Parts: sequence; structure tokens; C-alpha cells
Amino acid sequence: TQVSAVDIVIFGGSGDLTARKLLPSLYLAHRDGALPPKFRVICVGRHRWDDSDFRDFLDNQARPFIEKQHYSDEAWSAFTSTVIWRTLDATKPEDYDELKPLLDAGSVRVFFLAMASTLFEHVIRNIDSAGLNTPLTRIVLEKPLGTDLASAKAINTTVASVFTEKQIYRIDHYLGKETVQNLIALRFGNAIFEPLWRAPTVKSVQITVAETVGVGSRGEFYDATGAMRDMIQNHLLQVLCIVAMEPPASLDPDAVRDEKMKVLRSLKPMTLADIARDTVRGVYVPGQVKCDPVKGYHDEKGIPADSTTETFVALRTEVNTWRWANVPFFLRTGKSMQERVSEVVIDFADVPHSMFGGSVLRHNRLVISLQRDDSVRLHLMAKEPGDGMNVRPVSLAFDFKTSFNSRRADAYERLLLDVIRGRQTLFVRDDELEAAWAWAEPIIEGWKKLGERPRPYAAGSWGPAAASALIAREGAHWHEEM
Ligand code: BG6
Repeated sequence: TQVSAVDIVIFGGSGDLTARKLLPSLYLAHRDGALPPKFRVICVGRHRWDDSDFRDFLDNQARPFIEKQHYSDEAWSAFTSTVIWRTLDATKPEDYDELKPLLDAGSVRVFFLAMASTLFEHVIRNIDSAGLNTPLTRIVLEKPLGTDLASAKAINTTVASVFTEKQIYRIDHYLGKETVQNLIALRFGNAIFEPLWRAPTVKSVQITVAETVGVGSRGEFYDATGAMRDMIQNHLLQVLCIVAMEPPASLDPDAVRDEKMKVLRSLKPMTLADIARDTVRGVYVPGQVKCDPVKGYHDEKGIPADSTTETFVALRTEVNTWRWANVPFFLRTGKSMQERVSEVVIDFADVPHSMFGGSVLRHNRLVISLQRDDSVRLHLMAKEPGDGMNVRPVSLAFDFKTSFNSRRADAYERLLLDVIRGRQTLFVRDDELEAAWAWAEPIIEGWKKLGERPRPYAAGSWGPAAASALIAREGAHWHEEM
């Protein structure tokens, strides 16, 4: 759909996400002519900023996040001339009246809520009572969307009391990553994978999102959140859905989301015994990441000495369907780890019989690297040149950078353009959000009941040894341990 005019209002307009992701993404889209001809951004927040304070924010907080090769003064000033600041207290209805004259009644209108979800209710009610919700309005909700099932439901109820589901865009930026969308292309744009993409040809699946960064300046937020809520409940489960879902009939939003929903509903619920056996929580202690000394989690700013929050989770789950019966799905994420890696690894079955004498046969492994390499590699066995018939592992590789040399949009850029164009496929539906919490919350509750403290792991390592034991129990290995 062709959109000729859009007004974007960013709540939390002086925040970290706005500076790091939203404005740089909009800048790039603007520079590349991807935005509608009439385009405006209104950043709102509580600061009593004048134009020069805001200019300072734009130049010193947001601009540094634009990669050098994509920056020019000319494009930046053309972009920033479309961006303004308004002081607004999200909780004060009267402040919203001032927005009205700034917004064009016939334009697509996007309210982006890049703020704590505790403020959502105020914003939603106030948008409604100020009469700002037009038929062309879309509302974008940024994670964390709740802290448990009840709070997620409360958010869904509040937003649904003012907006229809077609107007609501719940962001999980992992779905905006090119590499994650490529998983859909790989699975359903090729005939060779689908017949093998199931039990018993697939032996196990692993999904890892490892980060080298610690919690940095977000200590207070992170300590109330932990890795399960911050990463597993959303990003890793969304990737799992894309890996495990049945082929949707089309890429229509509900066709895809219905299939993801079936996966979420089929996730094996964990009992206390499962939690004790199949999950590993960890917390980083001082160590070294890439030769630099790194603090432990408890020495980071804003972390109480007696905190029991986890910065690492590894777990084993199953998708209880015919396709995936008894196939373990191993999920793993952590901060301050050895390398920044996001990848999906599909382990295929072993050959039933080896005719290659002493050669050790490795099973086939498909490694879909979502971040860092951005590649797909299929590990095969091949004959070593020379006498005899010795085989050894080799790989077939596809690399994004070599195959496509055009600029790849950042996840937020892609998702913002989708919001403007009214494309909901890459956004999370209300029932998905609730199903993900319905699975994740009992695990968090279980940890409390078990009274287990997270296991220490040295910053710069791959997490607690128990995470290797968890996967080794089933004869598998994390990718880096192969
Ligand atoms: C965010 C989490 O949602 O995702 C962060 O809150 C995390 O803690 C980030 O660092 C990871 O995103 P990416 O795109 O850098 O892998």
C-alpha cells in the first residue's frame, strides 16, 4: 500500500532506544527515499527541552549511532529538519491536547511507545480521550511487554480497549532481522529441506543468542528482569517458532501468526522436576572478554549484593507435535560471554552404518548464523583426497555479504517501514504474547520455589559447565564445542 504522509510520535523520545535505534533507522530510511513524501517525527518526553537542547540530543546522542559510511551532513540535516521535540508528561491528559494541532488528520499516524510498560495505560487512555485515535492510527508497543502472564494480559486488555488488533504492533526486533526472515525463505523457498525438517531426521535443535556485553548502564532494569524475561520469553521463542512452525499458506499476518501460535501452544510445559533437570541459570563473575578484564554482575552499577537474577539461561524443551516428537530444542542466552553469536543449529541424524573404517563420521549439521557471520553453513562428510577412503567434515556455505552486496536494513528500520505500510506479519499478536508468558512464567516461578541460586560463570566463558552437561546428556554438543 502506498502511503503518502505519516506522522510518527515517539513516546520516550529522549530515551536510549530512540537515540540508538529509532532515529538512526529513520535517518537511513529517509536518506534512501523509503519514507513517504510527507513525513514528520515528533519526539515527546518530560524534559523541558528547547530547540537547542533537542538539537544537542540529536547530534550527540543519536547521530553517533549512524555508521560512518552512511552518514552525510546533508542527509542528516534534511532528516532532522523533519524531527521536532515537544515536552509532554505522559500521565497528564491536558498535555495531549497540544499534540492535536501538530498532527495531520489525513496522514498515517504512528504512536511508538518506547517507554516502560507501566506507563502504557496512561498513554493509551490519554491518546483516546484527546481524540487522537484516527482510523489511520497505529500503535507500536516496545518490549518488555509485561513481567508475567497477568501483566501481559493487562497490557493486551488496555490496548484493546482503545485500538483494534489490526492497529497494534508489538515489536520483537528479532523478527525484523534479515537473517531471521531468511530462515523463512530457507525453509519454504526450497523444496529440499522441508521433508527432512522433522523427527527423526532432525535429532536436535539449538538456538543460541550469546552477547559479549554485560548489563552496562541498565543494571536496575536488568536486575528486575533477568535473562529469561529479557531474551528467552520473546526473542528466542520467536526464533524457535520460525524454526518449528508448519508451512503457513501465505505470508499474510494471521497465516504466519496462527502457525507460530500452534508452536507456542505445543511447547512442553515444565514441571518442577523438569525445571530442576532441564534448565541452567547462570550469573557472570569477574573474568575477561576478548582479553579485557570484565566486572562480575554483582559489581555492576545498580545491582544489589544479594541479587539472585540470572544473566544466563540454558534449557531443554520440546515441541509436542507429530513433526517434533521427542526432538530436544536447546535454548541458550547469556551476557558477558566469550563471543557475540546468534545462531540456530539443526543437528541431523547419524548414518545408521559406517562403511568408512576408522573415519569418525559426524552427523550433518545446518548452522544458520543470525548475527556476526550472517551465513548458512551445511556441514557434510567428504572424502579426503588420496589413497584409501577416509572421510572428514567439510562445509557448504552461503554468506549474505558475498551473495548480496546491498545495504541491509537494521531490524528497527525494517519494522518501522512495516508499521508505516500497515504490514503486521513480523509483529507479535496478542495471543502469542500470552502463550509465550504462559510457558515462561512457571519456569521463573519454579526457580523461586526451588530456591536455586544462579551458577557462577566467568565473564568471557560460554556459561556454567552445567549447560554443557545439559546438552551432552543427549549426546549433543553446543556448536562451539564441536
Ligand atoms: C534486547 C534486550 O531486547 O535485545 C537486550 O533487552 C539485548 O538485553 C538485545 O542486548 C539484543 O539484541 P541484538 O539485536 O543486539 O541481538
